Amino acid sequence: MAENKLDIKVVGVCGSLREGSYTRCAVEIALAGAKEKGVTTQLIDLKDYELAFCDGRDDQTTYPADVHKLRAEVKGAQGIIVGTPEYHSGLSGVLKNALDLMGFEEFGGKMIGLVGVSGGAMGATHSLDSLRTIARSLHAWAIPEQVSISEAWKAFDDNGNLKDGKLEECVKEVGRQVARFAFLHSSLQAQEFLKAWEGAPDNPGA
Ligand SMILES: Cc1cc2nc3c(=O)[nH]c(=O)nc-3n(C[C@H](O)[C@H](O)[C@H](O)COP(=O)(O)O)c2cc1C
Repeated sequence: MAENKLDIKVVGVCGSLREGSYTRCAVEIALAGAKEKGVTTQLIDLKDYELAFCDGRDDQTTYPADVHKLRAEVKGAQGIIVGTPEYHSGLSGVLKNALDLMGFEEFGGKMIGLVGVSGGAMGATHSLDSLRTIARSLHAWAIPEQVSISEAWKAFDDNGNLKDGKLEECVKEVGRQVARFAFLHSSLQAQEFLKAWEGAPDNPGA
């Protein structure tokens, strides 16, 4: 993707606030994969944002500044890595809330890559499945590749790398594919197609 003339940005949202979070490590590995493809990357560590609970209020301007900062950062990206810990067979509350604070404007038509970690041996399968459904609801394209890192407490070394090189490659591949599809989706040809599609009559056969 060296010929990338479009300014593609991939952000990675970490859905765990825990100090030393393995989810954060996984998101950082996926972002490293995206970076290999020549895109700009940014880790969005929800720990650094003072968000409010989403309450569905009419006047969205009254949300704290960090909500608007988060929205702007995600809106400015063409690809998004979403990382979650498995919490009681679902995604973390902090991540769900962050997603609820956003919507089509931030996610619509964007590429999403999913990574999950779990303490148990069964992996983050439930949270990844839920995130796939949520992505559909946000009108985002969840790429087929996803990674679940089970027994995360023994999967990472002290530097936050995965001990299993093959697994590390799989996580990087999620980032690479998000970057790749974000690029393809943003290419001039894709944009021309979308323009023609949007300009087409509703029922050309009539
Ligand atoms: C509230 C809570 C619920 C959890 N539920 C599960 C679970 O259902 N299955 C599982 O395998 N691990 C579960 N865990 C363990 C976490 O998935 C594990 O500690 C993971 O590493 C947390 O992610 P982090 O390292 O990014 O903070 C739970 C942990 C917490 C704090």
